[in-house]
Amino acid sequence: MLLEIEQLHLAFVAGDEPAHILRGIDVSVAPGELVGLVGESGSGKSTTVRAALRLYGDEADITGSIRLNGTDMVNADAATQRRVRAESVALVQQDPRAALNPVRRIGDSLAERLVKVHGLRRADADARILALLTEVGLTLPERRMRQYPHELSGGMLQRVVIAAALSTDPKLILADEATSALDVTTQAEIIAMFQRQIRERGLGMLFITHDLHLAGAICDRIHVLQHGEVVETLSRPGLFDTATHPYTRTLIESAPTLARKDRS
Ligand SMILES: Nc1ncnc2c1ncn2[C@@H]1O[C@H](COP(=O)(O)OP(=O)(O)OP(=O)(O)O)[C@@H](O)[C@H]1O
Ligand SMILES: [Mg+2]
Repeated sequence: MLLEIEQLHLAFVAGDEPAHILRGIDVSVAPGELVGLVGESGSGKSTTVRAALRLYGDEADITGSIRLNGTDMVNADAATQRRVRAESVALVQQDPRAALNPVRRIGDSLAERLVKVHGLRRADADARILALLTEVGLTLPERRMRQYPHELSGGMLQRVVIAAALSTDPKLILADEATSALDVTTQAEIIAMFQRQIRERGLGMLFITHDLHLAGAICDRIHVLQHGEVVETLSRPGLFDTATHPYTRTLIESAPTLARKDRS
């Protein structure tokens, strides 16, 4: 397994009272798998991935088990956690502007990590980035590498951030609403590109979204999250047919899709 989270509990302890946000999460992703983590706003999706990467410090109390590419992330020291993150995982979040340094050229930002963390020569890093920017469907990729983030649209920047995520050759991608802000066509293109990477490279992906129908269209398995608990896990074949939890049923009924309209 690339990611194996079992009975994860998390409480933020900075305030007067601990805030119990995650209350027994079980989520797993194997190589070549596209797994959905679906739930409404505030259900704990982002907290789950940030906890899995151990990005919280003393403000969060964590119990349970988190294995990332075989490493016990709950008990590992900070240096090991950093190494596992750098070697095997990429996190793609919703706001690409927050992920990029606004005063650096895109090519410099993306090459820096490959040179500093992964030991590539700058020319090799540039070649790799150019190939990936082309692969994620960015127009004029050579020119984009010389531009600054403010010169690109949100959709273009999200493609840049996804290219950056792929550049370190991760085994697991955690896509936290990574396509939610994009128009439908761009979203479909990026998801197709993710699916290609999963198929061709055996990449594993945790696809986080509030859109159960989107997850249902693309995921091999879906964990449904409500108030910090996985209330249901849906698997293929069948997927939605097996849903029994009332919350999942509500999500299924609440967003009519073209397919459902056709049937009615
Ligand atoms: N650092 C923090 N300290 C205290 N509470 C927090 C912290 N981070 C998140 N929370 C709380 O944890 C809950 C879950 O938040 P989280 O961001 O994981 O939800 P989400 O499912 O990702 O929602 P969205 O779909 O809006 O992104 C929320 O109630 C939020 O207010
Ligand atoms: Mg979130």
